[in-house]
Amino acid sequence: MTSGGESLKQELEALQKEAKHAFTQALDLAALDQLRVKYLGKKGSLTEVLKGVGKLYPEERPVVGRNVNEVKDDLEGYLEICRNVLKDEQGLLRVEAERIDVTLPGRSQMPGVRHPVQAGLDEMSEIFMHMGFEVAEGPEIEDEFHNFDALNIPPEHPARAMHDTFFIEGGDDMLLRTHTSPVQIRAMLDGEPPLAIVAPGRVFRCDYDVTHSPMFHQVEVFKVGRGVSMAHLKGVLHHFLNAYFGRDLPIRLRPSYFPFTEPSAEVDMGCAICDGKGCRVCKGSGWVEVLGSGMIHPNVLKAVNIDSEVYSGFAFGLGVERLVMLKHGIPDLRLFFENDVRFLRRVGR
Ligand code: DAH
Repeated sequence: MTSGGESLKQELEALQKEAKHAFTQALDLAALDQLRVKYLGKKGSLTEVLKGVGKLYPEERPVVGRNVNEVKDDLEGYLEICRNVLKDEQGLLRVEAERIDVTLPGRSQMPGVRHPVQAGLDEMSEIFMHMGFEVAEGPEIEDEFHNFDALNIPPEHPARAMHDTFFIEGGDDMLLRTHTSPVQIRAMLDGEPPLAIVAPGRVFRCDYDVTHSPMFHQVEVFKVGRGVSMAHLKGVLHHFLNAYFGRDLPIRLRPSYFPFTEPSAEVDMGCAICDGKGCRVCKGSGWVEVLGSGMIHPNVLKAVNIDSEVYSGFAFGLGVERLVMLKHGIPDLRLFFENDVRFLRRVGR
């Protein structure tokens, strides 16, 4: 072979090597295609070499020409292999990019809780409902008849002044109810004995200090029927306090006075904080006062047209905040109204 043929052959070999190396370096299919154009395209390097074949001696042309075709076939085959490798690689990359880590924990939403006072109201109402009491509600804006007169608290009665009432301006005798006892009057006017009612709700008094807030909650409970006695009152109270505090706490009744009950009794419960041993909350006595109670006064029954010769009833009213505080060992009433979510979450449910 002439030196021309020889150098063309070498050139071809070098080109083959260079092209293969370039193909393996391509990072993606687009780059590989650019290399195809560069080496194998119409104006590519191989075409350039082919042009040199024409300048060779005629007997050398077929040999070198065959060489060129062999290199072309080889490079095309190699190109195809590189293309497949890149395709696989890109597929894997895409799968990797789109991969979802199913083991990651979900983004949970913190469920809310009821306010501790609402949770307490619900819990207390439920205990009474299990004993057969029916839930009743009354308006928060009351009139003097339901809030006072019918409950045997006439206008000149000192208890009326002691209630620190919020009166509604220009509202005739309208006021914000000072207790839930008016629900007794509404329920007895609406229904016939026997009645067993639990009335949870908001009440208002113009009072504000460490242990008093102008708005607080009470649960009123009463039963009217034939032969209802103080023993029923004590049994219901005992069962309720045991159920609410989840253990057997003693109760005691002390004689007291309320205009709407006769006899009246203040109810104490063995201190739930120290179990009766004596602590700051019970002031060392082992007892805490939890509610007012009594047998419904004949004058109250008369005001709602119930014959007190035939029927009798017991009633009691308890402060919800106070019981929730005792149950959870909450030291300050104001925590209920400051709405610090850490407190609300810990005590609410
Ligand atoms: N209504 C009274 C108050 O708010 C509480 C109360 C005492 C309710 C005795 C009663 C009861 O039903 O018999 O101070």
